[in-house]
Amino acid sequence: MTTRSKSRPGRLRLATWALLGTVALLAPGCRQDMHDQPRLEPLEASTFFADGMASRPPVEGAIARGQLREDVALFEGKDANGNLLTVLPLEADRPLLERGQQRYDIFCSPCHGRLGDGQGMVAQRGYKVPPSFHTDPLKSQPVGYYYDVMTNGFGVMSSYASQISVEDRWAIAAYIRALQLSQGVEASALTAADRQALTNPGAATTAPADDHSGGH
Ligand code: HEC
Repeated sequence: MTTRSKSRPGRLRLATWALLGTVALLAPGCRQDMHDQPRLEPLEASTFFADGMASRPPVEGAIARGQLREDVALFEGKDANGNLLTVLPLEADRPLLERGQQRYDIFCSPCHGRLGDGQGMVAQRGYKVPPSFHTDPLKSQPVGYYYDVMTNGFGVMSSYASQISVEDRWAIAAYIRALQLSQGVEASALTAADRQALTNPGAATTAPADDHSGGH
């Protein structure tokens, strides 16, 4: 460094030093202690409050924005008397059921199976086999029961509250009802077209073609 600057003309060296000097004088001015403001970091200790904490607990009864869960039926799946809901708190239309089917297939079918018979792949590979949704005890459970199990977990099955939104949990509950209804329907309850499809599957427009039945 010194050998290099020695080889430069004196005027340039002087200018360099002058520039460096200016920078050195100005630099601390730019560094007003903005990185160290007189404020307390979250959870920092403080001698100001009696409990020694800088962070204050929320005022009793305070509710964070978006967390007012006034609709007890929707959020807890129970009526005013604490009984599980027997009717959906949302409108059971086709979009809700389709959403429920999609969420069910993603979150529940690995264990409960696409049909809800408890024969999902995880169960087949050794996890505790969940009960079929098509037994009388489970068919007679109110729809709020399914919401409750998803929200709070059941036995070895963990809660899905952190992964599935409130609305989606109801959509899944509605879809489980649809699954239950889909099994054991009386043929007489079907439309003429669907009844015909039962006896002549090849003519069905909605049911998948059963080409591989002779296979495995
Ligand atoms: C990792 C596997 C697994 C997944 C995923 C899973 N479950 Fe379960 N579920 C179980 C098992 C196992 C049980 C039985 C728990 C026990 O008896 O300890 C069970 C029990 C239940 C029951 C209670 C049945 C009864 O006997 O009353 C319901 C309802 C239920 N699950 C619904 C769901 C829904 C809805 C989803 C999707 C959001 C889901 N489960 C996802 C494994 C799973």
